[in-house]
Amino acid sequence: MQENETAKFFDTYSDRFDSIYGNENSLLNKVVNCLWRKSMKLRYLKTLEGCTPIDGKTVLDIGCGPGHFSIALAQRGAKKVFGIDFADGMIDLAKERAKQAGVADHCEFRKADFFDHQLLEQFDYSILMGFMDYMANPASVIERIVKITRCKAFFSFPEGGTFLAWQRKIRYRNRCDLFLYSHEQIANLFRDADADDIKIEKISRDFFVTACLERSIRSQAESPTAVLISEGNSRQ
Ligand SMILES: C[S@@+](CC[C@H](N)C(=O)[O-])C[C@H]1O[C@@H](n2cnc3c(N)ncnc32)[C@H](O)[C@@H]1O
Repeated sequence: MQENETAKFFDTYSDRFDSIYGNENSLLNKVVNCLWRKSMKLRYLKTLEGCTPIDGKTVLDIGCGPGHFSIALAQRGAKKVFGIDFADGMIDLAKERAKQAGVADHCEFRKADFFDHQLLEQFDYSILMGFMDYMANPASVIERIVKITRCKAFFSFPEGGTFLAWQRKIRYRNRCDLFLYSHEQIANLFRDADADDIKIEKISRDFFVTACLERSIRSQAESPTAVLISEGNSRQ
């Protein structure tokens, strides 16, 4: 299936996807939330908790959808949040929600395909929640994110091989391609990543991955010789 099928699917699905974050309290909604959406809630809470300190920091939100992560982080003090999504409906919702939340000045939402959009700056935190599910080449995504993230990157990967995973695979067969993972596959994907530390946690039907990338900060803070040499060179 083509990538634009995924964009089309999420464009038409944007309102329904956004409502997953709502507070509908019917019994049916409670059962559905318990079975399928616990993961979404956990990864949301873990990401917000992981993006600390947030005051004055910059955040990249890939496949931002209706902007729930971006907006919450802007409300918590992020200086700038940049959300990318290739579904029009998602970007429209994110912009509108940021305006309503009073953080539009700190949020930029761009309709773009992650693979076509050139990112010229680095970000303190990168978030890829519910995104790796649709990636035919996850290694290239990880490689790129590691290069443009200063502190930490957060990923979710849907677990394969379970009853719920196959049920979801069947539901998605006419929507878009869906990729599922084992712990071992994820560990292999990150094995060669240029990161200090990789943490893979199982949360409900997803794996939540934290990649710590404090290299640049540490090399300046812990390598005074290197700093002195480069200062010396720049004065010549
Ligand atoms: C399941 S939603 C997750 C939204 C949000 N991160 C969240 O967890 O609430 C996945 C989003 O990724 C977007 N997406 C998938 N592939 C993309 C790509 N190559 N470039 C940009 N956006 C993409 C889809 O349009 C969709 O909105």
